[in-house]
Amino acid sequence: MFEVETIGLEMKRQAKKNGTDMCSNTNKRLKTLIEAKNPLFDFISPTSSLESLIQPFNSKTFLNDYWEKKPLVNLRHGALTKHQHEVLSSIYSTQVLEEAAKEKRLLFGRDFHACRFDGEKTVDAVHAKGTLTSASLKKLLHGQKCTFQIHQPQRYSDLLWRLLEHLESYFGCLVGSNVYITPPGTQGLAPHYDDVEVFILQLEGSKHWKLYKPQVELARDYVVNLDPESLGNPIEEFTLRPGDFLYFPRGTIHQACADEGNQFSTHITISTYQHQSYGDYLRSVLFSSVEGLASSSVDFRRGIPLGSISNPVFNSSPLWNEMTSQLGKLTEQLSSHLRKIPFPQPMILDFWSSRLPPFGIDLDEIEGSQPKSPMPDMEDEVRLLYKTHVYFMKQKFQPDERDSEDEEKEEEQVEAIGFYSSIFNSRSDHMIMVEDHSSIENEPRVVLKFPLTYEESMKLLFERESVAANELPLPREDAEKLLSSLWSCHLLETVKT
Ligand SMILES: [Fe+2]
Repeated sequence: MFEVETIGLEMKRQAKKNGTDMCSNTNKRLKTLIEAKNPLFDFISPTSSLESLIQPFNSKTFLNDYWEKKPLVNLRHGALTKHQHEVLSSIYSTQVLEEAAKEKRLLFGRDFHACRFDGEKTVDAVHAKGTLTSASLKKLLHGQKCTFQIHQPQRYSDLLWRLLEHLESYFGCLVGSNVYITPPGTQGLAPHYDDVEVFILQLEGSKHWKLYKPQVELARDYVVNLDPESLGNPIEEFTLRPGDFLYFPRGTIHQACADEGNQFSTHITISTYQHQSYGDYLRSVLFSSVEGLASSSVDFRRGIPLGSISNPVFNSSPLWNEMTSQLGKLTEQLSSHLRKIPFPQPMILDFWSSRLPPFGIDLDEIEGSQPKSPMPDMEDEVRLLYKTHVYFMKQKFQPDERDSEDEEKEEEQVEAIGFYSSIFNSRSDHMIMVEDHSSIENEPRVVLKFPLTYEESMKLLFERESVAANELPLPREDAEKLLSSLWSCHLLETVKT
Protein backbone atom coordinates (compact mmCIF):
# COMPACT_ATOMS: atom_id res chain seq x y z
CA MET A 1 0.00 0.00 0.00
CA PHE A 2 1.36 3.40 -1.00
CA GLU A 3 1.64 5.87 1.86
CA VAL A 4 1.61 9.66 1.76
CA GLU A 5 5.18 10.68 2.12
CA THR A 6 7.09 13.83 2.80
CA ILE A 7 10.48 14.09 1.18
CA GLY A 8 12.86 16.88 1.96
CA LEU A 9 10.54 18.87 4.18
CA GLU A 10 13.19 18.88 6.86
CA MET A 11 15.30 20.89 4.44
CA LYS A 12 13.21 23.95 5.22
CA ARG A 13 15.17 24.18 8.46
CA GLN A 14 18.26 24.92 6.42
CA ALA A 15 16.57 27.85 4.73
CA LYS A 16 18.42 31.00 5.48
CA LYS A 17 16.91 34.19 6.74
CA ASN A 18 15.46 36.29 4.00
CA GLY A 19 18.35 38.71 3.92
CA THR A 20 16.39 41.49 5.57
CA ASP A 21 19.40 42.39 7.69
CA MET A 22 21.24 43.56 4.58
CA CYS A 23 19.16 46.66 3.96
CA SER A 24 16.60 47.09 6.71
CA ASN A 25 16.48 50.90 6.78
CA THR A 26 16.01 51.15 3.04
CA ASN A 27 13.26 48.53 3.22
CA LYS A 28 11.33 50.49 5.85
CA ARG A 29 11.42 53.51 3.54
CA LEU A 30 10.39 51.37 0.57
CA LYS A 31 7.54 49.81 2.51
CA THR A 32 6.13 53.26 3.15
CA LEU A 33 6.52 54.18 -0.51
CA ILE A 34 4.98 50.93 -1.78
CA GLU A 35 1.95 51.33 0.42
CA ALA A 36 1.48 55.03 -0.36
CA LYS A 37 -1.03 56.18 -2.99
CA ASN A 38 -0.19 56.26 -6.69
CA PRO A 39 2.87 54.04 -6.61
CA LEU A 40 4.96 53.23 -9.64
CA PHE A 41 4.00 49.56 -9.42
CA ASP A 42 0.63 47.89 -9.18
CA PHE A 43 1.24 44.64 -7.34
CA ILE A 44 -2.35 43.36 -7.44
CA SER A 45 -1.41 40.46 -9.73
CA PRO A 46 1.55 39.11 -11.75
CA THR A 47 0.05 40.66 -14.90
CA SER A 48 -0.42 44.09 -13.29
CA SER A 49 3.18 43.97 -12.03
CA LEU A 50 4.45 43.33 -15.57
CA GLU A 51 2.16 46.06 -16.93
CA SER A 52 3.58 48.54 -14.38
CA LEU A 53 6.94 48.02 -16.05
CA ILE A 54 5.75 48.33 -19.64
CA GLN A 55 2.98 50.94 -19.20
CA PRO A 56 1.24 52.40 -21.18
CA PHE A 57 1.48 49.11 -23.12
CA ASN A 58 -0.58 46.18 -21.89
CA SER A 59 0.68 42.61 -21.54
CA LYS A 60 -1.28 41.36 -24.57
CA THR A 61 0.22 43.95 -26.91
CA PHE A 62 3.64 43.30 -25.44
CA LEU A 63 3.46 39.53 -25.96
CA ASN A 64 1.97 39.81 -29.46
CA ASP A 65 4.14 42.55 -30.86
CA TYR A 66 7.45 42.61 -28.96
CA TRP A 67 8.24 39.47 -26.92
CA GLU A 68 11.02 37.53 -28.72
CA LYS A 69 10.39 39.76 -31.76
CA LYS A 70 11.76 43.29 -31.44
CA PRO A 71 12.89 45.95 -28.94
CA LEU A 72 10.41 48.17 -27.11
CA VAL A 73 11.77 51.62 -26.26
CA ASN A 74 9.37 53.39 -23.92
CA LEU A 75 10.55 56.95 -23.17
CA ARG A 76 7.98 57.90 -20.57
CA HIS A 77 10.02 59.87 -18.02
CA GLY A 78 8.02 63.06 -18.63
CA ALA A 79 4.76 61.33 -17.71
CA LEU A 80 5.93 60.17 -14.27
CA THR A 81 4.86 61.95 -11.08
CA LYS A 82 7.27 63.20 -8.43
CA HIS A 83 6.18 60.36 -6.19
CA GLN A 84 6.88 57.76 -8.89
CA HIS A 85 10.36 59.25 -9.31
CA GLU A 86 10.88 58.85 -5.56
CA VAL A 87 10.00 55.15 -5.84
CA LEU A 88 12.47 54.78 -8.74
CA SER A 89 15.40 56.27 -6.88
CA SER A 90 14.56 54.13 -3.83
CA ILE A 91 15.03 50.92 -5.82
CA TYR A 92 18.75 51.53 -6.07
CA SER A 93 21.07 54.51 -6.42
CA THR A 94 24.65 55.62 -5.99
CA GLN A 95 23.66 56.62 -2.46
CA VAL A 96 22.42 53.08 -1.68
CA LEU A 97 25.75 51.69 -2.97
CA GLU A 98 27.68 54.17 -0.79
CA GLU A 99 25.65 53.10 2.27
CA ALA A 100 26.31 49.42 1.48
CA ALA A 101 30.07 50.14 1.21
CA LYS A 102 30.03 52.03 4.50
CA GLU A 103 28.37 49.08 6.19
CA LYS A 104 30.65 46.59 4.38
CA ARG A 105 27.72 44.53 3.12
CA LEU A 106 28.90 43.62 -0.38
CA LEU A 107 31.38 40.91 -1.26
CA PHE A 108 33.27 41.10 -4.54
CA GLY A 109 32.24 38.33 -6.93
CA ARG A 110 29.17 37.19 -5.05
CA ASP A 111 27.43 40.56 -4.60
CA PHE A 112 29.05 42.81 -7.16
CA HIS A 113 31.50 43.06 -9.98
CA ALA A 114 33.33 46.11 -11.37
CA CYS A 115 34.61 46.65 -14.91
CA ARG A 116 35.02 49.21 -17.69
CA PHE A 117 35.12 49.28 -21.49
CA ASP A 118 38.54 50.42 -22.76
CA GLY A 119 37.37 51.05 -26.33
CA GLU A 120 38.18 47.51 -27.47
CA LYS A 121 37.06 45.14 -24.73
CA THR A 122 35.64 44.89 -21.22
CA VAL A 123 38.39 45.15 -18.61
CA ASP A 124 37.95 43.97 -15.02
CA ALA A 125 38.69 46.38 -12.17
CA VAL A 126 42.26 46.32 -10.88
CA HIS A 127 42.76 45.06 -7.28
CA ALA A 128 39.05 44.47 -6.70
CA LYS A 129 38.61 41.78 -4.07
CA GLY A 130 37.04 41.05 -0.67
CA THR A 131 34.46 43.25 0.95
CA LEU A 132 33.58 46.60 -0.58
CA THR A 133 34.54 49.52 1.68
CA SER A 134 34.02 53.26 1.24
CA ALA A 135 37.70 53.60 0.31
CA SER A 136 37.64 50.80 -2.30
CA LEU A 137 34.38 52.12 -3.72
CA LYS A 138 35.97 55.54 -4.21
CA LYS A 139 39.01 54.00 -5.92
CA LEU A 140 36.94 51.84 -8.27
CA LEU A 141 34.13 54.26 -9.08
CA HIS A 142 35.96 57.62 -9.12
CA GLY A 143 39.58 56.51 -9.68
CA GLN A 144 39.34 53.66 -12.18
CA LYS A 145 35.94 54.87 -13.47
CA CYS A 146 34.51 51.38 -13.29
CA THR A 147 30.88 50.42 -13.77
CA PHE A 148 29.45 48.56 -10.77
CA GLN A 149 27.29 45.54 -11.47
CA ILE A 150 25.33 44.74 -8.30
CA HIS A 151 24.05 41.17 -8.35
CA GLN A 152 20.49 40.11 -7.55
CA PRO A 153 19.37 43.04 -5.31
CA GLN A 154 15.96 41.36 -4.88
CA ARG A 155 17.73 39.44 -2.10
CA TYR A 156 17.50 42.52 0.11
CA SER A 157 15.16 45.02 -1.62
CA ASP A 158 11.56 44.26 -0.68
CA LEU A 159 10.18 46.10 -3.71
CA LEU A 160 12.30 43.98 -6.06
CA TRP A 161 11.37 40.79 -4.20
CA ARG A 162 7.72 41.63 -4.75
CA LEU A 163 8.23 42.57 -8.42
CA LEU A 164 10.43 39.61 -9.36
CA GLU A 165 8.30 37.10 -7.51
CA HIS A 166 5.33 38.26 -9.59
CA LEU A 167 7.35 38.20 -12.81
CA GLU A 168 8.44 34.62 -12.03
CA SER A 169 4.76 33.71 -11.64
CA TYR A 170 3.87 35.55 -14.87
CA PHE A 171 6.61 34.03 -17.03
CA GLY A 172 6.68 30.66 -15.21
CA CYS A 173 10.44 30.95 -15.29
CA LEU A 174 13.28 32.23 -13.11
CA VAL A 175 13.77 36.01 -13.22
CA GLY A 176 17.00 37.69 -12.11
CA SER A 177 18.23 41.25 -11.83
CA ASN A 178 21.41 43.30 -11.80
CA VAL A 179 21.86 46.99 -11.09
CA TYR A 180 24.46 48.91 -13.11
CA ILE A 181 26.03 52.13 -11.80
CA THR A 182 28.19 53.88 -14.38
CA PRO A 183 30.35 57.02 -13.92
CA PRO A 184 29.44 59.94 -16.24
CA GLY A 185 30.89 59.79 -19.76
CA THR A 186 31.97 56.13 -19.44
CA GLN A 187 30.87 52.72 -20.67
CA GLY A 188 31.05 49.56 -18.58
CA LEU A 189 30.69 46.76 -21.09
CA ALA A 190 31.90 46.22 -24.65
CA PRO A 191 29.19 45.58 -27.28
CA HIS A 192 27.69 42.16 -26.54
CA TYR A 193 24.55 40.09 -26.58
CA ASP A 194 22.82 38.00 -23.93
CA ASP A 195 20.99 34.66 -23.81
CA VAL A 196 18.06 36.16 -21.83
CA GLU A 197 15.08 38.41 -22.45
CA VAL A 198 16.06 41.82 -21.06
CA PHE A 199 13.96 44.50 -19.32
CA ILE A 200 15.72 47.73 -18.38
CA LEU A 201 14.45 50.51 -16.12
CA GLN A 202 16.51 53.69 -15.77
CA LEU A 203 16.65 54.78 -12.12
CA GLU A 204 18.92 57.85 -12.01
CA GLY A 205 21.07 59.88 -14.42
CA SER A 206 20.95 59.14 -18.13
CA LYS A 207 22.49 56.64 -20.53
CA HIS A 208 22.81 56.59 -24.30
CA TRP A 209 21.97 53.23 -25.86
CA LYS A 210 22.70 51.67 -29.23
CA LEU A 211 20.96 48.47 -30.34
CA TYR A 212 22.09 46.42 -33.33
CA LYS A 213 20.57 43.66 -35.42
CA PRO A 214 21.26 40.22 -33.91
CA GLN A 215 23.95 38.07 -35.49
CA VAL A 216 22.13 35.07 -34.00
CA GLU A 217 18.36 35.45 -33.65
CA LEU A 218 17.16 34.40 -30.13
CA ALA A 219 20.69 33.50 -29.13
CA ARG A 220 21.41 30.66 -26.74
CA ASP A 221 24.77 32.04 -25.61
CA TYR A 222 26.12 35.12 -23.85
CA VAL A 223 28.72 36.59 -26.21
CA VAL A 224 31.01 39.41 -25.05
CA ASN A 225 33.55 41.77 -26.60
CA LEU A 226 32.10 42.00 -30.10
CA ASP A 227 34.23 43.88 -32.57
CA PRO A 228 32.64 47.36 -32.94
CA GLU A 229 33.62 47.31 -36.65
CA SER A 230 31.46 44.24 -37.25
CA LEU A 231 28.22 45.68 -35.87
CA GLY A 232 27.03 47.88 -38.75
CA ASN A 233 24.71 50.80 -38.00
CA PRO A 234 22.48 50.73 -34.92
CA ILE A 235 18.84 49.77 -35.53
CA GLU A 236 17.85 51.96 -32.56
CA GLU A 237 19.67 54.78 -30.76
CA PHE A 238 18.21 56.72 -27.80
CA THR A 239 18.83 58.07 -24.31
CA LEU A 240 17.15 56.60 -21.24
CA ARG A 241 16.26 58.93 -18.36
CA PRO A 242 14.76 58.01 -14.96
CA GLY A 243 11.49 56.14 -15.54
CA ASP A 244 12.26 55.20 -19.15
CA PHE A 245 11.92 51.54 -20.01
CA LEU A 246 13.57 49.30 -22.57
CA TYR A 247 12.96 45.70 -23.57
CA PHE A 248 14.89 43.65 -26.11
CA PRO A 249 14.92 39.96 -27.09
CA ARG A 250 17.91 37.71 -26.39
CA GLY A 251 20.54 38.03 -29.08
CA THR A 252 20.02 41.78 -29.58
CA ILE A 253 23.48 43.36 -29.67
CA HIS A 254 23.77 46.38 -27.38
CA GLN A 255 26.10 48.90 -25.82
CA ALA A 256 25.40 51.90 -23.56
CA CYS A 257 27.40 54.91 -22.40
CA ALA A 258 26.49 57.15 -19.45
CA ASP A 259 25.96 60.79 -20.44
CA GLU A 260 28.66 63.37 -19.66
CA GLY A 261 28.06 65.66 -16.68
CA ASN A 262 28.10 65.15 -12.94
CA GLN A 263 25.49 62.49 -12.50
CA PHE A 264 26.13 58.76 -12.39
CA SER A 265 23.78 56.57 -14.41
CA THR A 266 21.91 53.84 -12.53
CA HIS A 267 19.66 51.31 -14.18
CA ILE A 268 18.27 47.91 -13.30
CA THR A 269 18.32 45.03 -15.77
CA ILE A 270 15.70 42.35 -15.18
CA SER A 271 16.22 39.17 -17.17
CA THR A 272 14.32 35.98 -17.85
CA TYR A 273 13.67 33.05 -20.20
CA GLN A 274 17.16 31.63 -20.18
CA HIS A 275 17.20 28.13 -21.71
CA GLN A 276 13.42 27.94 -22.14
CA SER A 277 13.35 27.21 -25.87
CA TYR A 278 11.73 24.25 -27.64
CA GLY A 279 15.28 22.93 -28.08
CA ASP A 280 15.84 23.06 -24.31
CA TYR A 281 12.46 21.41 -23.70
CA LEU A 282 13.27 18.59 -26.10
CA ARG A 283 16.73 18.14 -24.66
CA SER A 284 15.11 17.79 -21.25
CA VAL A 285 12.50 15.19 -22.25
CA LEU A 286 14.13 13.22 -25.05
CA PHE A 287 16.54 11.06 -23.06
CA SER A 288 13.93 9.71 -20.65
CA SER A 289 11.37 9.40 -23.48
CA VAL A 290 13.71 7.29 -25.61
CA GLU A 291 14.64 5.18 -22.58
CA GLY A 292 10.94 4.59 -21.88
CA LEU A 293 10.17 3.69 -25.50
CA ALA A 294 13.14 1.35 -25.64
CA SER A 295 11.60 -0.54 -22.72
CA SER A 296 8.12 -0.72 -24.19
CA SER A 297 8.65 -1.00 -27.98
CA VAL A 298 10.66 -3.68 -29.77
CA ASP A 299 11.09 -1.28 -32.74
CA PHE A 300 13.37 0.84 -30.55
CA ARG A 301 15.34 -2.24 -29.49
CA ARG A 302 15.92 -3.60 -33.02
CA GLY A 303 19.54 -3.32 -34.24
CA ILE A 304 20.67 -0.64 -36.68
CA PRO A 305 21.84 -1.98 -40.10
CA LEU A 306 25.26 -3.59 -40.37
CA GLY A 307 27.91 -1.04 -41.29
CA SER A 308 25.98 1.97 -39.96
CA ILE A 309 28.88 3.17 -37.87
CA SER A 310 31.79 1.35 -39.51
CA ASN A 311 31.28 2.00 -43.23
CA PRO A 312 32.50 5.52 -44.20
CA VAL A 313 30.24 5.57 -47.30
CA PHE A 314 27.23 4.04 -45.56
CA ASN A 315 25.00 6.99 -46.43
CA SER A 316 25.30 6.15 -50.14
CA SER A 317 24.40 2.48 -49.67
CA PRO A 318 20.85 1.03 -50.13
CA LEU A 319 20.76 0.27 -46.40
CA TRP A 320 20.83 4.01 -45.70
CA ASN A 321 17.36 4.40 -47.25
CA GLU A 322 16.11 1.51 -45.10
CA MET A 323 17.57 3.16 -42.03
CA THR A 324 16.09 6.64 -42.69
CA SER A 325 12.70 5.08 -43.37
CA GLN A 326 12.88 3.21 -40.03
CA LEU A 327 14.03 6.39 -38.24
CA GLY A 328 10.97 8.19 -39.67
CA LYS A 329 8.66 5.54 -38.15
CA LEU A 330 10.42 5.76 -34.77
CA THR A 331 10.16 9.58 -34.83
CA GLU A 332 6.41 9.23 -35.29
CA GLN A 333 6.23 6.95 -32.24
CA LEU A 334 8.39 9.40 -30.31
CA SER A 335 6.19 12.30 -31.38
CA SER A 336 3.01 10.59 -30.16
CA HIS A 337 4.80 9.66 -26.91
CA LEU A 338 5.81 13.33 -26.36
CA ARG A 339 2.15 14.38 -26.63
CA LYS A 340 1.43 12.18 -23.61
CA ILE A 341 4.50 13.10 -21.51
CA PRO A 342 4.60 16.87 -21.24
CA PHE A 343 6.86 17.06 -18.16
CA PRO A 344 10.44 18.24 -18.68
CA GLN A 345 11.31 17.18 -15.15
CA PRO A 346 14.80 18.78 -14.79
CA MET A 347 13.46 22.15 -16.01
CA ILE A 348 10.50 21.94 -13.63
CA LEU A 349 12.62 21.01 -10.62
CA ASP A 350 15.16 23.73 -11.39
CA PHE A 351 12.40 26.37 -11.40
CA TRP A 352 10.66 25.12 -8.26
CA SER A 353 13.85 24.72 -6.26
CA SER A 354 15.30 28.11 -7.21
CA ARG A 355 12.43 30.59 -7.56
CA LEU A 356 11.71 33.28 -4.98
CA PRO A 357 9.41 32.44 -2.07
CA PRO A 358 6.07 34.32 -1.91
CA PHE A 359 6.49 38.01 -1.08
CA GLY A 360 6.25 38.77 2.63
CA ILE A 361 6.47 35.20 3.88
CA ASP A 362 8.36 35.12 7.16
CA LEU A 363 10.36 31.91 7.38
CA ASP A 364 11.32 32.59 11.00
CA GLU A 365 7.67 32.83 11.92
CA ILE A 366 6.40 29.68 10.19
CA GLU A 367 9.46 27.46 10.31
CA GLY A 368 8.82 24.57 12.67
CA SER A 369 5.60 26.15 13.93
CA GLN A 370 2.01 24.98 13.71
CA PRO A 371 -0.17 26.72 11.12
CA LYS A 372 -2.43 29.41 12.59
CA SER A 373 -5.67 28.08 11.13
CA PRO A 374 -7.27 25.10 12.93
CA MET A 375 -6.35 21.64 11.67
CA PRO A 376 -9.01 20.73 9.09
CA ASP A 377 -11.50 17.94 9.63
CA MET A 378 -13.98 16.37 7.23
CA GLU A 379 -16.82 18.77 8.12
CA ASP A 380 -14.73 21.84 7.18
CA GLU A 381 -14.31 23.92 4.07
CA VAL A 382 -10.66 24.26 3.12
CA ARG A 383 -8.56 26.41 0.83
CA LEU A 384 -5.21 25.71 -0.82
CA LEU A 385 -2.77 28.56 -0.08
CA TYR A 386 -0.04 30.13 -2.26
CA LYS A 387 -1.48 28.67 -5.45
CA THR A 388 1.09 30.39 -7.65
CA HIS A 389 3.73 28.66 -5.51
CA VAL A 390 2.58 25.05 -5.79
CA TYR A 391 2.99 22.48 -8.55
CA PHE A 392 2.19 18.82 -8.91
CA MET A 393 2.90 16.20 -11.54
CA LYS A 394 2.88 12.46 -12.08
CA GLN A 395 6.39 11.14 -11.87
CA LYS A 396 8.47 8.10 -11.07
CA PHE A 397 10.20 7.93 -7.71
CA GLN A 398 12.94 5.64 -6.49
CA PRO A 399 11.51 2.93 -4.23
CA ASP A 400 11.45 3.47 -0.48
CA GLU A 401 14.73 3.08 1.39
CA ARG A 402 13.25 0.26 3.42
CA ASP A 403 12.98 -1.74 0.18
CA SER A 404 16.52 -1.02 -0.96
CA GLU A 405 17.90 -4.24 0.47
CA ASP A 406 15.47 -6.19 -1.62
CA GLU A 407 17.54 -6.73 -4.78
CA GLU A 408 14.56 -7.57 -6.94
CA LYS A 409 12.89 -4.26 -6.20
CA GLU A 410 16.03 -2.16 -6.44
CA GLU A 411 15.46 -1.09 -10.05
CA GLU A 412 11.70 -0.75 -9.73
CA GLN A 413 10.43 2.82 -9.76
CA VAL A 414 7.12 3.84 -8.24
CA GLU A 415 4.75 6.17 -10.03
CA ALA A 416 3.20 8.81 -7.76
CA ILE A 417 2.15 12.45 -7.66
CA GLY A 418 5.03 14.74 -6.73
CA PHE A 419 3.77 17.89 -5.01
CA TYR A 420 6.17 20.84 -4.83
CA SER A 421 6.06 24.26 -3.24
CA SER A 422 8.50 27.15 -3.18
CA ILE A 423 7.21 28.69 0.06
CA PHE A 424 10.33 27.65 1.97
CA ASN A 425 12.76 28.56 -0.81
CA SER A 426 15.65 30.78 0.14
CA ARG A 427 15.36 34.41 -0.87
CA SER A 428 18.93 35.19 0.16
CA ASP A 429 20.40 32.73 -2.38
CA HIS A 430 18.10 33.68 -5.25
CA MET A 431 19.92 33.46 -8.62
CA ILE A 432 23.33 33.53 -6.94
CA MET A 433 25.88 31.37 -8.70
CA VAL A 434 27.63 28.86 -6.50
CA GLU A 435 31.14 28.00 -7.64
CA ASP A 436 30.79 24.33 -6.73
CA HIS A 437 27.72 23.45 -8.77
CA SER A 438 27.47 20.06 -7.10
CA SER A 439 26.26 21.76 -3.94
CA ILE A 440 23.22 23.32 -5.62
CA GLU A 441 20.07 21.55 -4.50
CA ASN A 442 17.89 20.57 -7.43
CA GLU A 443 14.85 19.80 -5.30
CA PRO A 444 12.41 22.25 -3.78
CA ARG A 445 12.37 22.34 0.00
CA VAL A 446 8.80 21.10 0.14
CA VAL A 447 8.26 17.82 -1.67
CA LEU A 448 5.26 15.67 -0.88
CA LYS A 449 4.59 12.33 -2.51
CA PHE A 450 0.98 11.23 -2.92
CA PRO A 451 -0.59 8.10 -4.42
CA LEU A 452 -1.96 8.52 -7.95
CA THR A 453 -5.52 8.18 -6.60
CA TYR A 454 -5.15 11.62 -4.94
CA GLU A 455 -4.78 13.42 -8.28
CA GLU A 456 -8.43 14.42 -8.78
CA SER A 457 -8.65 15.79 -5.24
CA MET A 458 -5.51 17.82 -5.74
CA LYS A 459 -6.90 19.25 -8.99
CA LEU A 460 -10.09 20.21 -7.18
CA LEU A 461 -8.17 22.01 -4.42
CA PHE A 462 -6.04 23.76 -7.01
CA GLU A 463 -8.85 24.87 -9.31
CA ARG A 464 -11.49 25.97 -6.76
CA GLU A 465 -11.30 28.95 -4.43
CA SER A 466 -12.35 26.65 -1.56
CA VAL A 467 -13.61 23.05 -1.26
CA ALA A 468 -15.77 21.23 1.27
CA ALA A 469 -13.51 18.49 2.63
CA ASN A 470 -16.23 15.83 2.27
CA GLU A 471 -16.48 16.67 -1.47
CA LEU A 472 -12.99 15.32 -2.14
CA PRO A 473 -13.23 12.16 -4.28
CA LEU A 474 -11.26 10.02 -1.84
CA PRO A 475 -12.03 7.57 0.96
CA ARG A 476 -12.28 9.47 4.26
CA GLU A 477 -8.96 8.23 5.61
CA ASP A 478 -7.08 9.28 2.46
CA ALA A 479 -8.80 12.67 2.33
CA GLU A 480 -7.74 13.28 5.93
CA LYS A 481 -4.15 12.33 5.08
CA LEU A 482 -4.10 14.69 2.11
CA LEU A 483 -5.51 17.62 4.09
CA SER A 484 -3.29 17.17 7.13
CA SER A 485 -0.14 16.86 4.95
CA LEU A 486 -0.89 20.11 3.14
CA TRP A 487 -2.01 21.88 6.34
CA SER A 488 1.13 20.93 8.27
CA CYS A 489 3.22 22.41 5.43
CA HIS A 490 1.32 25.74 5.77
CA LEU A 491 -0.22 25.14 2.33
CA LEU A 492 -3.86 24.72 3.35
CA GLU A 493 -6.19 26.59 5.66
CA THR A 494 -9.57 25.93 7.14
CA VAL A 495 -11.95 28.64 5.98
CA LYS A 496 -15.25 27.43 7.49
CA THR A 497 -15.75 24.96 10.29
FE1 LIG B 1 23.68 42.90 -21.70
